[in-house]
Amino acid sequence: MNLSNILSETNIVLGVTGSISAYKSLTLASRLTQLGANVNVILTEGGSEFITPLSYRTITQNPVVTNSFDVNSAYSVNHVYLAKKTDVVIVYPATANSIAKLAVGICDNPLATTILSTTAPIIIAPAMETNMFENSITQSNIENLKTRGFHFIGPDAGHLASGALGLGRLTEPEEMLGHIQFILGKTRGDFSGKKIVITAGGTQEPVDPVRILTNLSSGKMGYSLATAARDRGATVTLISAPVSLSAPIGTTIHEVKTAEDMLKSVHENIKEADAIIMAAAVADFKPTNSVGKKIKKSDDNFTMRLSPTSDILKSISDTKIIKVGFAAETDNLIENAKSKITSKKLAMIIANDVTIPGAGFGSDENQISIIDQDLNVESLPLNSKYEISHTILDRLLPLLQRFK
Ligand SMILES: Cc1cc2nc3c(=O)[nH]c(=O)nc-3n(C[C@H](O)[C@H](O)[C@H](O)COP(=O)(O)O)c2cc1C
Repeated sequence: MNLSNILSETNIVLGVTGSISAYKSLTLASRLTQLGANVNVILTEGGSEFITPLSYRTITQNPVVTNSFDVNSAYSVNHVYLAKKTDVVIVYPATANSIAKLAVGICDNPLATTILSTTAPIIIAPAMETNMFENSITQSNIENLKTRGFHFIGPDAGHLASGALGLGRLTEPEEMLGHIQFILGKTRGDFSGKKIVITAGGTQEPVDPVRILTNLSSGKMGYSLATAARDRGATVTLISAPVSLSAPIGTTIHEVKTAEDMLKSVHENIKEADAIIMAAAVADFKPTNSVGKKIKKSDDNFTMRLSPTSDILKSISDTKIIKVGFAAETDNLIENAKSKITSKKLAMIIANDVTIPGAGFGSDENQISIIDQDLNVESLPLNSKYEISHTILDRLLPLLQRFK
């Protein structure tokens, strides 16, 4: 399995039932296929009233199952074949009717027979009118299935097909994808059972109530690391300075502003952690005296005194926690990074030259060197921050296994 993407080489059964929101399943089928998953769609009779098998067949390049008793089916016994082969079953959208059938084990269509025959994780995304969803029958069916280990995602609140506003909207495909990756990571990922704290973004040090000292960090490297670690099954705590990114689904986020806030949050969250990756650009200095009132413009020169902030990685003395640092440098990259590895007692450090065009702050790509405790330097080519994150995790994994 290629772990740089938990979905590649994954077999997925996508069940589509008779909801008006079934059109969203075409996007989900397409995204899953693009990410390398082998998607087998099973349509209920209701589902095929909304979307034709041809659309799924074209998107997934696989036969679509609509009938348990089809003698011309590509699979000898649909439900047995697919149930055994699949790594996960996703019912997207799931009607009240299909949820009810599953809750009592009625197997009158190929989707229900596959679900009852599989040992793979099952993810259900309900979509229906608010009253249908809130009806105590639906709620007790959902509770029943939850106690049997079914994963429920959504529904969301918002505009419904009837024109009403309320709970019952199908979770959007991109968000669903995040949930699928999270659940697959937990069941199949090589970081499953590992707890990782990741920091991200540039801290903000107040000068006065309207001004801050900060840096150009976008948080993209830390958020990519959090996504990659989540995809590989780690329990991820993301400690983030202000950024304009959404926390990856399945991670726990703690939002902080200053270097001191980040220090406090790191110490609160590393107690159970196996590793910390400090991808945040923490301010090295803060104004010595932040003032409570806006500093007025005057013709005189303005002088501000700065004091050093605490070194977060240095302050972590627990030797059971593997510490990974980042060094964003503009000169003497490797030498500066090497000195940090020893002074901060790091397991490895990621050095990046932030002056390289197309890499570093704000960019979706980065070019880094990984330096280990023996000061070996591995320089990687320019690549997406997500792919780079996987290489960093590849190097981290043996260290975690050695120490635990
Ligand atoms: C236009 C239309 C939209 C529907 N949308 C939903 C829906 O969003 N959720 C739902 O639970 N049922 C919905 N239904 C009702 C189901 O299609 C119906 O209960 C059907 O028997 C479901 O079968 P299935 O679960 O086997 O697909 C809709 C029906 C129609 C005619």
